[in-house]
Amino acid sequence: MTVERTFIAVKPDGVQRGLVGEILRRFERKGFKLIGLKQLTPTRELAEEHYGVHRERPFFKGLVDFITSGPVVAMVFEGDGVIVSARKLIGATKPLEAEPGTIRGDLAINIGRNVIHGSDGPDTACFEIGLWFNSSELVTWNPSDQMWRVED
Ligand code: RTP
Ligand code: MG
Repeated sequence: MTVERTFIAVKPDGVQRGLVGEILRRFERKGFKLIGLKQLTPTRELAEEHYGVHRERPFFKGLVDFITSGPVVAMVFEGDGVIVSARKLIGATKPLEAEPGTIRGDLAINIGRNVIHGSDGPDTACFEIGLWFNSSELVTWNPSDQMWRVED
């Protein structure tokens, strides 16, 4: 396994519903390392770049309207296999199809209000981390219990 980084964002619905702590807790508890964290209301330009792959889709304008409607909590987590694992912790895009135990399966109902974003692959993760964070905002540190999370 190689150490990877992924971009996670609690969307405006998750922030408004007071779910930031609940969501952050699930990644911490799993054992991933938080290396970036900030709150911001995204500009339209940022949201359109972030969801650029969906630009031609009918839901694009509504998605950008929603993601720019209030504060988002943006995070970067680091760890072995974190990109795929985060997507598993998050669950399926449609919350009614997401398994119980996943974030969307436990905390959401509607596809347009699915509380969290996670990068869907290594290239996307790299692009999204660079889009949302300056390198000076990412913190290099070693959790004191690291030896209890991973073998050498
Ligand atoms: P995200 O990028 O937000 O983490 O979600 P995802 O990978 O699970 O799903 P994606 O296909 O990338 O879609 C991005 C977001 O667009 C909204 N969506 N609405 N109405 C629709 O058919 C539809 N399809 C997608 C969802 O909010 C989804 O999270
Ligand atoms: Mg996506």
